[in-house]
Amino acid sequence: MSNDGVNAGRRRFLVAATSVVGAAGAVGAAVPFVGSWFPSAKAKAAGAPVRVNISKIEPGQQMVAEWRGQPVFIVRRTEEILGNLEKVAGQVADPESKASEQPSYVDPKTRAIKPELLVVVGLCTHLGCAPSFRPEVAAADLGADWLGGYFCPCHGSKYDMAGRVYKAQPAPLNLPVPPHSYETDSVIIIGVDQENA
Ligand code: FES
Repeated sequence: MSNDGVNAGRRRFLVAATSVVGAAGAVGAAVPFVGSWFPSAKAKAAGAPVRVNISKIEPGQQMVAEWRGQPVFIVRRTEEILGNLEKVAGQVADPESKASEQPSYVDPKTRAIKPELLVVVGLCTHLGCAPSFRPEVAAADLGADWLGGYFCPCHGSKYDMAGRVYKAQPAPLNLPVPPHSYETDSVIIIGVDQENA
């Protein structure tokens, strides 16, 4: 059986090295009463875009970045994984994310700017638990027909490798795709739309 570089069974998580884009600007001290109209430096940092180096993600692996206090899952998908998305399209609730959060510039089927790189917010759309990355095909606890994806440990919602929720799960929607863009082939910016990059 081909391993196809998916590293099935080896759930290696990389912690993303993220950096806040740009320095917090100085708010006009000369006009102190205006200062209250601007977000604090802390608030700015909390909502600021983050720059993530994705060059170390191997095929079939995931790394986790943090943006606005939320985990963001970044997966380098193989051709096999992309092929499996077609196979489960009839089993997911919102295959083209018509109801789910997703920027217009990502491909509706792969939910990505570049098909091989999935970027999704890692919070279950049911009650916000962090779903587990379960890329291994036919995982013993998820069934022989499991083609890899995410499993939410709280109430059992299942998502595919595009973060699309399967039908009849507690979670109603796909994992959101956050605004993001490519600074280079190996650096993405989460929080800045592709069209504004
Ligand atoms: S929070 Fe994920 S299934 Fe309930």
